[in-house]
Order: sequence, then C-alpha cells, then structure tokens
Amino acid sequence: MDTESLRARWETLESEQLKELAELGLHTLAKHPLGHHLIDFALGGERVESTRLHTQVGGMSLENPVLVGAGWDKKGWAVDGLYALGFAGTEVGSVLVHPQGGNPRPRLWYSRGAALNRMGFNSQGMEAVARHLDAEERPGILGVSIGKNRLTPDNQAPWAHAAVADRLYDYAHYFVINVSSPNTPGLRNLLNPGPLTDIVVAVKDVLDSKGQKPLFVKTTVDLALEDLDDVIKVCVGHGVTGIIDSNTTIDDELKSRYGWEGLAGGLSGDVGEFRRRANERMRDLTRMTRGTGLQRIGVGAINNAASAIERLRAGAQAVQVVTGIRQSKGRVAREINQGILDYLDRHGLENVEDLAGLA
Ligand SMILES: Cc1cc2nc3c(=O)[nH]c(=O)nc-3n(C[C@H](O)[C@H](O)[C@H](O)COP(=O)(O)O)c2cc1C
Repeated sequence: MDTESLRARWETLESEQLKELAELGLHTLAKHPLGHHLIDFALGGERVESTRLHTQVGGMSLENPVLVGAGWDKKGWAVDGLYALGFAGTEVGSVLVHPQGGNPRPRLWYSRGAALNRMGFNSQGMEAVARHLDAEERPGILGVSIGKNRLTPDNQAPWAHAAVADRLYDYAHYFVINVSSPNTPGLRNLLNPGPLTDIVVAVKDVLDSKGQKPLFVKTTVDLALEDLDDVIKVCVGHGVTGIIDSNTTIDDELKSRYGWEGLAGGLSGDVGEFRRRANERMRDLTRMTRGTGLQRIGVGAINNAASAIERLRAGAQAVQVVTGIRQSKGRVAREINQGILDYLDRHGLENVEDLAGLA
C-alpha cells in the first residue's frame, strides 16, 4: 500500500474515533475542578468576553454570536466543555425518540479541513440525552435539534418530532426541526410544504402548550430557491421563529475535489465553493424573509473570523460551527470572537449586531 492510500486509510479509520476522543476529553475535563483552567491553558487564553459581542436571536440573549452546530454533541454530554471553549452554547443532537446506531462505520472522513459524513442519525435517544443533560451545568444557550428514526414512517414524523420536543422541553432554550439531513433515505422530502406543515404544527402544539420557546427549521443550500420559498411560507404561516442554513451538501462535483465522488453522505467544512453558496444563500434568505420577522442562523464552512463575519454581514444573526472545531483544534470560537472585536474596532462599529446584513 502506498503512502497516499495509507494516509487515506488512517483518516477513514480514525476520524470518528478521534472525534469521540475529543468529546470524551471535553466531557471529562469540564467535570474536573481544574478542567476549565486546563482548557484555557491548552488553547492559550481565556474565553473571549465582551458586551460588544452580546446579541439576540429569536428572543434569546447570546453572550456571543457563535454556537456549536448540530452533530458535534449528539449525546448532550459535552455542553459544559464546549462552553469552556468559548461558544455561546450548543445545539445538541439531532436527538431521536428511540436509540439508533446509524450507518455502519466508516461513515466520517476528513481531508484538508473538509468532512464527508453519512452518520445516519446515530443517537442514544431522548431518554439518554435527558440523563446526560441532567449531569451538565448547561451554561449558555442550549438548542435541541430533533430528528426522526429511520424506521419511523413519514406519517408518524409529526408525532416523533413532537415527542422529542415534549421530553426535552425543560432543557432547551430553542428547538430545531431537522429534515434536511441527506443521510436518512427520503428525509429531505419532508421539507415539502405538506409534510413540513404537519411536523411544524405538531411541534408548535407541544411548545405552545408548555410555554413559549423558539422553533427553527434547518434547510440546505441544495434546496432550490422555489422550494426554499415554500419553506419560508410554511414557517411564516405557522409561527416558526427562524431558519438555520445550511446542512451539508450532497453536490458530487464538490465531493470529487476530495476524492469522495460517488460516495453517499454530506460534505461540510472548509470548502470554498460551499462557503460561497452558503453566503449567497444567506443573502437570499435575508432578502426573502424581509418583513416576515423570521430570524436567521448561518452554518456551513465557517472556520474563522473572516468566514463568520461574512455570514453575519450576509444577514445571519448568529453562526454555528461544526467541522471547523476539529480544523482549529478547538480554538475556533475564541478566534472568531476576537476577530469580530478587532473588526468592530477597525470599522468604528459598537456591537456585533451592527454587522447584520451590511453586505
Ligand atoms: C459528523 C457530522 C454530523 C452531523 N450531524 C448533524 C445532525 O445530527 N443534525 C443536523 O442538523 N446537522 C448535522 N450535521 C450538519 C452540521 O450541523 C452543519 O449543518 C454542516 O456540517 C455544515 O457546517 P460545518 O461546515 O461547520 O460543518 C452534521 C455534520 C457533521 C460533520
């Protein structure tokens, strides 16, 4: 076997194990009395704190505009550690009603800052996630992304999403309906107006009966603009708070740049063209949601201050990072927040909210 295929094999075999080690490390460190100091030491500085980073999205107050996107902490057991890395909070999940193993391994590959994953909703299920969250202090914002078990038929999807919202209501500041993952067969069909409306209505019923918590729908750059327009109509018509964009892309041409052509799964991370599409999509979303009150959270190819600022200027009120956490070895939230403060200074702006939609 030559060096190139050995390297590819190493990445194939080790990607998910490395990720699990990182999760375990954060989980354990955050519980240790000196853990936060150790994290600060390892990252070469403290969490970046400033009132100039404070922002609002969907009625929630964030200490800074950088959240961990869904998929990094599916179990809900690393939220304290992720907060210590400098994030304003974590979107846990996607969480399913029943435990589910997901697709067979290997199912996660990294190369040059990009990732291809076909995890297929591996989830310990909502009861385990509730147990884990009980054991966390949960500083900052906690989102819960909701998914559907593979064997749950589409006509049961509204019930399944509502059940997770019901079980985890007390833990979450906000919820997300995620029917834009490419790794559960047929899931993206649930973004069509009929099925999406049924899911939104079922989840809203639960949220409204228990109080009031923001609800987001997650979309993908793979969605045609006409279809995005339909999603927006459903959201506006049924009291959804906002949209999170983008989930991973299944564009095979982009995958081919990493030797992943023809492989099932979604591409994410430091891919120039994915970043360009996600920025453009955010500008489209900003235009299409004008006057509706719908909020916007940007995710996809954000891995440093420049890419975060671009997305905020395109109209996102907050951003999320997933793949960039690994690429930056955990430093990404600090780098983004420090970079935003520097940017505000350079441009004579007071608060991160002044960036909104500047582009
Ligand atoms: C390993 C992995 C697992 C993911 N799992 C989920 C998930 O369960 N639910 C979800 O909404 N998005 C999931 N995503 C998508 C991310 O939340 C995000 O939308 C996408 O990766 C683009 O952001 P990034 O470029 O910062 O990674 C996952 C991404 C990765 C890399």
